[in-house]
Amino acid sequence: MAEANSTSDAVSYGYEGEVALICIDNPPVNATGIAVREGLVAAVKAINEEAKAKAIAIYCAGRTFIAGADIREFGKPPKMPSLTEVLNDLEASAIPTVSIIHGTALGGGYETALATHARVGMKGAKFGLPEVLLGIIPGAGGTQRLPRVSSVGFALDIAVSGRHAPVEEGFEKGAIDRIVEPGDPREIAIAMGQEVIAGTLPTRRTDQIEAKADPEAISNTLAMVQKKNPHLINLAECVKAIEAATLPLAEGLAKEREHFMTCMNSPQRSGLIHAFFGERAVSNIPEAKGDTRPLDKIGVIGGGTMGSGITTSCLLAGIPVRLIEVQQEGLDRGVATITKNLDGAVSRGKMSQDKRDAALAMLEPSLAMEDLADVDLVIEAVFEKMEIKKDIFGKLDTICKPGAILASNTSYLDVNQIAEMTNRPQDVLGLHFFSPAHVMRLLEIVQGAKTAPDALATGFALAKKLKKVGVLAQVCDGFIGNRILGHYGKTNAYLVLDGASPQQVDTALEAFGFAMGPNKVGDLAGLDIGYMTRQRKKEEGMDPNERYAGDVADKICENGWYGRKTGKGYYMYETGAPVPNPEVEKIIDDVRAEKGITPKDFSDQDIVDRYMTAMIAEATRVVEDGTAKRPVDVDMVFLFGYGFPRFRGGPLHYADTIGAKELVARMEEYAKEDPHYWQVPELLRKMAADGTTFADMNS
Ligand code: 3HC
Repeated sequence: MAEANSTSDAVSYGYEGEVALICIDNPPVNATGIAVREGLVAAVKAINEEAKAKAIAIYCAGRTFIAGADIREFGKPPKMPSLTEVLNDLEASAIPTVSIIHGTALGGGYETALATHARVGMKGAKFGLPEVLLGIIPGAGGTQRLPRVSSVGFALDIAVSGRHAPVEEGFEKGAIDRIVEPGDPREIAIAMGQEVIAGTLPTRRTDQIEAKADPEAISNTLAMVQKKNPHLINLAECVKAIEAATLPLAEGLAKEREHFMTCMNSPQRSGLIHAFFGERAVSNIPEAKGDTRPLDKIGVIGGGTMGSGITTSCLLAGIPVRLIEVQQEGLDRGVATITKNLDGAVSRGKMSQDKRDAALAMLEPSLAMEDLADVDLVIEAVFEKMEIKKDIFGKLDTICKPGAILASNTSYLDVNQIAEMTNRPQDVLGLHFFSPAHVMRLLEIVQGAKTAPDALATGFALAKKLKKVGVLAQVCDGFIGNRILGHYGKTNAYLVLDGASPQQVDTALEAFGFAMGPNKVGDLAGLDIGYMTRQRKKEEGMDPNERYAGDVADKICENGWYGRKTGKGYYMYETGAPVPNPEVEKIIDDVRAEKGITPKDFSDQDIVDRYMTAMIAEATRVVEDGTAKRPVDVDMVFLFGYGFPRFRGGPLHYADTIGAKELVARMEEYAKEDPHYWQVPELLRKMAADGTTFADMNS
């Protein structure tokens, strides 16, 4: 779609009677990259100079109005004109302007609409200022113009939450001036331009509107963001910028710029934008594309926590599920868990009662594995024992229809061995969900040696349907996430053995940005899981050079303290909030005495450095040996499956902020104490020598 006169590759203008039309066409989402900025400023100037029009209507081609500034330009040398300058020129247009919103008007897109003199939204369209989710704040007038056309309170709501709001809500709050039935944006632009000329669609200029101060909303929001998200600097910067909206517009815009630049220069911005693109990059690979198989009906084997969570997730996505258990009691428990999960979604306002009923109606519980004969995909989620899994896959091979995909939710076991139990290893893969599976967004898609390309691509199609982030992983013990966890998790144990307390480790890592320290996580997940894994590894035979990390945790478990579910673990939970368990202190003292360890002092920084360095070491090896395709895949596994602080972008994005040289130096220093544990990955040595970064390996 284009008008007669082009002012850049992305912008054109033309006339319909006395209405000038500006069309922005910059796929995929009409972001305000340099071509849009140059073109828009030139079009507004030309239309004003030609003086043929009495109104200017701006509309977009394609699926959406402008979805924001072009994030890919961030962190690069700025190209002028800036969006702020463009929008100041737009607002100053002597000819009144109107914007026509379809799809989403987000960030710089909604700011463009705010700089026009009236905003028209098509029913169903959304608008918002989601900049805070990228570590910045609205930087092209959003914090100044929204409080003027609406209110300080509404601007705080929209800009601090970053939510995409319906235009209908915006209309009620003054943020949108007219709602129209959806239609062709150009036709609506002509009609609205004519209404502007007729005076039936009023226009306003924000430099002529004063924002009413709301000190209470400002201080409440500031307190809320500092309590809820103490790590994120941009939220408070956003509130302060909105506070400045009571100043004259030019002064307010200058203040907004200062706050914007503080955020733009922060590493949090780079981490959050890495997360934005990373989430999309993991499925932007050849393995995720191409032909897929149907996913009309799914079978889940196992009604335990994982199986019930996976079933819930499928039902929420509208996919019918046959749930198989061996005994009625287990089946009833599974159905009860699924019902509870769905009821939880209703009570949290995530779904309506009707939808919950419809989801539950798609569940078919059964005790007969033969009932899986017609499903398109089976996800096995039973106890983590190879013999049991092999038995199930042997049976599935005889029961399931040709072409059905047979997936295991194993967290550690060898998918190739499981596949060999069938005559169709090409149909077998791993689909590793994270608990609670209906909440956690990560799905590791594990490619077996013989998995067919269309079976693998169907794994990604499933992730998309379930609104999960699918990440490709190769077979190894623990795949990407649990393998790395298996390594760095030991640092926590070593720190405690050598002198830190479990609480100090937790507090240091929570200050770094983790929602919970590793010992609190252990208590929450159940310490028995780690105990069983250590027993399994002991049975398989441990490397004699490895320092055993389980002395303290084993003794805690042997007391029957498995964490929250037993009321006690590293912490005690009698009063709700965790209180350090004094008996654990005694266990630690005893173990240290038994091993002849003289406790050392660790600073909080030491704790973070060792923990993160160990995580990065194994993450590097996972990239080096191809278990993960690229560093960004590891990063997304940690953001979406392990509670890694999003603003740090992931372990390998964070590693780039430290630098390979420093990481190698640290590992060599720590290796003086434990050379077996602190081995430097070859890839990291190479990076230290030639100056490459993990980011270089993503492109
Ligand atoms: N800049 C550059 N590329 C963008 C982009 C942006 N603002 N928004 C989306 N894209 C790209 C995506 O990376 C993706 O590229 P790919 O196909 O190569 O992977 C493509 O556009 C399509 O995006 P999605 O896959 O996300 O498509 P959806 O239809 O699912 O979602 C959307 C569309 C709701 C617009 C979603 O992309 C989105 O939320 N985008 C970000 C919006 C945003 O945060 N805007 C604010 C930007 S910052 C700003 O404006 C600063 C200003 O105040 C100065």
